Amino acid sequence: MPPSSVTQRLQPVFDQVNEAIRQRLGSDVSFVSEVSQYILLSGGKRLRPALFVLSARLCGYEAGRELAISPAFEFLHAATLLHDDVVDGADTRRGKKAAHHVYGNPGVILVGDFLLAQSMALGAETGMLAFTETMARAVSRMAEGEVLQLLHARDPGITEADYETVIHRKTGVLIESACYLGAVIADAPEERAEALGRFGRLIGMAFQIIDDTLDYTGTEAEFGKPVGHDLDEGKITLPLIRTLAAARPDHRRELEDLIGRDRRTPEEFARVKELIQLYRGLEQSMARAVEAVAEAKQALAVFPDVQERRDLADLGDYIVTRRK
Ligand code: IPE
Ligand code: IPE
Ligand code: MG
Ligand code: MG
Repeated sequence: MPPSSVTQRLQPVFDQVNEAIRQRLGSDVSFVSEVSQYILLSGGKRLRPALFVLSARLCGYEAGRELAISPAFEFLHAATLLHDDVVDGADTRRGKKAAHHVYGNPGVILVGDFLLAQSMALGAETGMLAFTETMARAVSRMAEGEVLQLLHARDPGITEADYETVIHRKTGVLIESACYLGAVIADAPEERAEALGRFGRLIGMAFQIIDDTLDYTGTEAEFGKPVGHDLDEGKITLPLIRTLAAARPDHRRELEDLIGRDRRTPEEFARVKELIQLYRGLEQSMARAVEAVAEAKQALAVFPDVQERRDLADLGDYIVTRRK
């Protein structure tokens, strides 16, 4: 089956996750409900809760609470998106105005905190200490990831290892946790939990690498958020890192100069893209993401070849072919 059809095949899971999210949304403070709905009912892919549900089922979980707990992963994701768009000064998200442009920075930051707490509360409903501990660690890692990214802003000396640390923490850890905790809720043996965690970490990193290539190749209409904006946000991502590493000294100096500026003219940005093309920075990044997904799928070899394992593997392939 071609990877794009996996999201169609899994539509019933996405629908069930959506229903669970709707049921858990809300607050008696109407502003909190409104902002939560604005971000949560705006058409996210629901990748993280779906991965949790599939991981639990792959581990033979039968107690039936995976759907009820799954919004924890979307609430946490939504909280980080609210905060991230303020930090990045992003104008659009999921094809709509970013929430801070509608409700203001203070309100959006505070509702982000609310969703973060809701997410932890849902995790605590499992009554499993390991579950809450893993979630709390994920939140810390994500915050550290965003801070590390900030510290590397406009730094042309950023190494590929630095970049990998940032994307692992800001994006990989949550996807890793969703998969790992699917095994935890199912009381699966540690070997299986580790395998799912590894799978999640690797597809999570591939996911961010693809996000970073789509910033150069995507269209805002499809992607639902600004394109060509990472450099303005100070983010030196894999396409550029690979280009810098391969570039002739004069090209490297030229790029370093262009990257180091606060703003670039459209002509200057076009020159950055030209150099990325010359050194095949986007192709190299895509190849790195494909390689990570292949490695991720190998991690699933400890499981029997059942439908959920195929669904997870296909979601991995979907991640590298996605346009949104
Ligand atoms: C966006 O995540 C943030 C990144 C980690 C790149 P998604 O692309 O999963 O966002 P939605 O939930 O589908 O909008
Ligand atoms: C994703 O980083 C960070 C989060 C995990 C919130 P980006 O800043 O690249 O994500 P987008 O592009 O805004 O979705
Ligand atoms: Mg952002
Ligand atoms: Mg991005």
